[in-house]
Amino acid sequence: VWSTVPQGPPDPILGVTEAFKADTNPRKINLGVGAYRDENGKPYILPSVQEAENRLHGQVDKEYLPITGLPSFTSAAAKLAYGADCAPLKEGSIAVTQSISGTGALRIGGAFLSRFYPTSKVVYLPSPSWGNHTPIFRDSALEVKTYRYFDKSTVGLDWAGMIQDIKEMPTGAIVLLHACAHNPTGVDPTKEQWEELSGLIKEKGLFPFFDMAYQGFASGDIAGDAFAPRHFVSQGHQIALCQSFAKNMGLYGERVGLFSLVTASPEEKARVESQLKILVRPMYSNPPVHGARLAGTILNDPALYAQWEGEVKGMASRIISMREALYTLLTNTYHTPGNWSHITSQIGMFSFTGLTQAQTEVLASKRSVYMTKDGRISMAGLNGGNVEYFAKSVDGAVKG
Ligand code: LMR
Repeated sequence: VWSTVPQGPPDPILGVTEAFKADTNPRKINLGVGAYRDENGKPYILPSVQEAENRLHGQVDKEYLPITGLPSFTSAAAKLAYGADCAPLKEGSIAVTQSISGTGALRIGGAFLSRFYPTSKVVYLPSPSWGNHTPIFRDSALEVKTYRYFDKSTVGLDWAGMIQDIKEMPTGAIVLLHACAHNPTGVDPTKEQWEELSGLIKEKGLFPFFDMAYQGFASGDIAGDAFAPRHFVSQGHQIALCQSFAKNMGLYGERVGLFSLVTASPEEKARVESQLKILVRPMYSNPPVHGARLAGTILNDPALYAQWEGEVKGMASRIISMREALYTLLTNTYHTPGNWSHITSQIGMFSFTGLTQAQTEVLASKRSVYMTKDGRISMAGLNGGNVEYFAKSVDGAVKG
């Protein structure tokens, strides 16, 4: 029956992990997927998460959650994103549903907009954007277009191009914005630029759809990283927002996230939530419980929350120290041709190195150094034990 099913390509990001796992070189490095590693290159279980595990151990059943998830988690997660002072949050006008991490949030959002957003079926993504955004929205029956975002020549934001493209979008179109720590470029608008974007997006009647997968990783400050969505809401935008706890709590495989929509009133929120339930039920019935309990335990306990904030800062600072180490090695030790200052100016988990696809292929085949083909590296995969080998390998690939 399946003789006509064609072989699909490996996933551009998760496929890198498969290639890495198959490599037997003991020096191999995986800088593909954005997953935090400690300074020994090992997965990191945050001590606050471990503490939450200890508290939950043996204390909970394995019953189904409600369709929209664990209320103590979803309300705390919404507060984390929007801030306790957020007016629509205080008046009970934000519709929320727990999601299968950030991807699931985007998928629910895509499906909801596709079904109910009256004005447009077109979503504009920044160019470039996270590789999974396009298939997520296409599978949600939305049409995907792009707007200029990254300027290769300055290795920074293409502000003029971005503004011009937004101005030319049809009224009512959906515009996807990375709330912070843009993936893959590590380049974010400034606060002033966000303020201008908020005004422009309102003027144009566009629908702002935020993806916030890295809250805490841009600046090390949880609240600071939520500036953009909070500002938009304060300006009266009814945003959609996707949250992930994969990175900032290290809950990758637990699949903990939240999708929310700011609505006009508690009554509208109730109608929207009823439809979110109708969307979720035939997709996966109800979300997994364990990760939501872990995140909820941390978010609802002031002492554990403070501890977690410190741990997020710790992860963000280790990444910054690796940026500095890599920059210094390439520039001062190996004198690698090119300007590498973007390694330290970019923020978040990734660096968009500027390495070409051909160079990334040489690095994988000759040096067992793995990254995505667009030259993005997950900085968190570097540590004191491998950064030199990595820099030397890059130097070799650049000098050819
Ligand atoms: C990434 O971009 O590496 C992460 O968002 C993980 C993923 O699912 O792709």
